[in-house]
Order: sequence, then C-alpha cells, then structure tokens
Amino acid sequence: MNEERAFFDHNGLYTPTLLRVTAIEDEIPAEAVTGPIKNFVLERNGIDFRPGQFAQVTVFGAGEVPISLSSPPSLSDRIILTVRAAGFVTGALHQIRPGDVIGFRGPCGNGFPIEPCIGQDILFVAGGIGLAPLRGLLWELLFRRQDFGRILLLYGARTPRDLLYQYQIPEWQEKGVEVFQSVDVGDGVWEKRTETPRKVGVVTTLFQEIKIDPQRTVAFVCGPPVMIRFALLGLTRDLHIAPERCFATLERHMKCGVGKCGHCIVADKYVCMDGPVFSLAELEKMAVIEEPW
Ligand SMILES: Cc1cc2nc3c(=O)[nH]c(=O)nc-3n(C[C@H](O)[C@H](O)[C@H](O)COP(=O)(O)OP(=O)(O)OC[C@H]3O[C@@H](n4cnc5c(N)ncnc54)[C@H](O)[C@@H]3O)c2cc1C
Ligand code: FES
Repeated sequence: MNEERAFFDHNGLYTPTLLRVTAIEDEIPAEAVTGPIKNFVLERNGIDFRPGQFAQVTVFGAGEVPISLSSPPSLSDRIILTVRAAGFVTGALHQIRPGDVIGFRGPCGNGFPIEPCIGQDILFVAGGIGLAPLRGLLWELLFRRQDFGRILLLYGARTPRDLLYQYQIPEWQEKGVEVFQSVDVGDGVWEKRTETPRKVGVVTTLFQEIKIDPQRTVAFVCGPPVMIRFALLGLTRDLHIAPERCFATLERHMKCGVGKCGHCIVADKYVCMDGPVFSLAELEKMAVIEEPW
C-alpha cells in the first residue's frame, strides 16, 4: 500500500477482504410479514471471528451495511450471513448470484462472552431475525456441548412463515436443546402441530413454560428493541436472573464500524467497538433500556 493510500485508509482499516459467495439459500419467502430473508454462504478465507461479531459487508455499486455472522467459527469451511432485504443495500445483496464477490470488513465488535459461561445453563431469547446472531452462538456451543449445562431456546416470530432455521430445530433438540416457540398470529396449522412446545403470543409468554435456576443461568437476547426491553424485564423480574447474567445485542446505525466516525455512540460507548453485545448491567448504566411499563 503506498503512503498516501495508507494515510487515507487508516492502514487498511477501510479496505474490505473480497469473498466469493458460494451459495445463496432462500430462508424466508417474500410473502412472509418480515419480507424475504436469504442466507449467503461465503468462502471462509481464513477469517477468524467470535459469535456475536458482525462484518461491514460491501455490495459493489450499492454500499456497505453491518451484518452479523450467523454461523459459528467452528464451522471451518464457510461463513453464513442471514440477511433481510430491508432497503437499498440489503435489497442489492438479494440480487447477487452465487459466484459473485462481496466486500467483507471485520470481524467487528466484541462478540458474546463464551468462556465465562462454561458450566452454566444457557437461555436464548430471540425475536424474528434476532435469531441470526444467536444461532452462531448456539451452534458454537453445540460443538462443545459437554462444557455447558442446559441450553434453552425461546423463539418468537410474527407468523409461522417468519420463523428462521426450522430445519435445524430437530438436530438441536437431539443435542439436548430445549426449544419453545411462539408466533404473534397462528395459521391454524401451527396450533395443531406438536414437535416443539409452541404458543400463540409474544415470545415473553414462553417464560411461563420454563423452570430455570437463576443462579446458574446466563441469558442472551436479540430481537427488535421493544422485544429486547420486555425480554430483559421478564428475565430479571419473573425469572430472577441478575442483570450481570443477561446479555443483549444492540442495533445502531453504523458507518465506519471501527470506532472512528461516532455514528453509533450511545452514552460513553461505541456500539461498533464496545458492543454490539452488552450486559443488562451495562445497558442500565448507558440508560439505553427504558422501562417498558
Ligand atoms: C451490528 C448489526 C448487526 C446486524 N445484523 C444483521 C443481520 O444479521 N441480518 C440483517 O438482515 N440485518 C442486520 N442488521 C441490520 C442491517 O444492517 C440493516 O438492515 C441495513 O443496514 C439496512 O441497510 P439498507 O441500505 O438495506 O437499508 P436502508 O435503505 O438504509 O434503510 C431501510 C430501513 O432500515 C432502517 N435501518 C437502516 N439501518 C438500520 C440499523 N442499523 N438499525 C435499524 N434500522 C436500520 C432505515 O432507517 C430504513 O427505515 C444489523 C445491524 C447492525 C447494526
Ligand atoms: S460506526 Fe463509526 S464509530 Fe461506530
């Protein structure tokens, strides 16, 4: 890199790695309430990361957006991104074809704390596409299943068609994951099926279905902001889990992803560098989670 380019590019901080998209899978159909969601399978190219981290993904000719890595690091041959067509750049990403190349800057952010969770029970609470970053962690824990106690997944979406990764649920259950699912609105078929405990209602109604030991449970939450608020309230007030044991990932508008531009600042934190994963104890100090009552 010549000196002038190194100066403007902060020694490569803004230069993406070029990764080939090896496969594209439809995850959620366009007719679903959340709109189309696709999985983009990328060549791994030696990139190391932690579950909960994200990448600044470039679609050439369109722009750059932050996207979580929804596959685990132990899946050594690929990286998977699960992306909803939300607007201009993600819409352009949905138009690319297998074999095309995208830009990948990162991994960015802190990721979920895994080592402090060894020997603990793990409770996942996910809403909609919020299961994408949590899947990376859940899948990683299953590579080292013996290190953890119970693993519970409470997952809610708008309708049955909006639920992600349904084809992986049987495999997770075989590995001892206790899965509970809910939809805001049923379709008549959902109510009759019995493979997993299921409800019609918001995801927090699933809290009544489980019994946990709050002293040995660590909770991970991801979903829309209102769901995060109610989930964190239920985890602490109803399930009595300490704020230090509850973690949520924050979504903020980002530009640089590397602590330079200030777009993502909340209180005294850069969400792109200090987060996007924060404990509830940290979120309370940052005054980010307003009480929902
Ligand atoms: C750390 C992080 C991880 C993310 N992981 C994923 C993921 O795994 N999969 C996924 O599909 N999406 C993820 N997102 C959201 C994704 O980055 C936005 O959907 C994307 O930036 C929208 O860009 P666009 O150009 O397609 O839409 P635009 O045309 O820019 O916007 C479309 C709409 O989305 C809103 N929007 C744009 N960016 C954000 C944002 N960051 N937060 C909330 N609303 C936004 C806009 O205000 C507008 O209403 C993540 C965001 C962050 C910050
Ligand atoms: S996105 Fe630029 S400082 Fe965080």
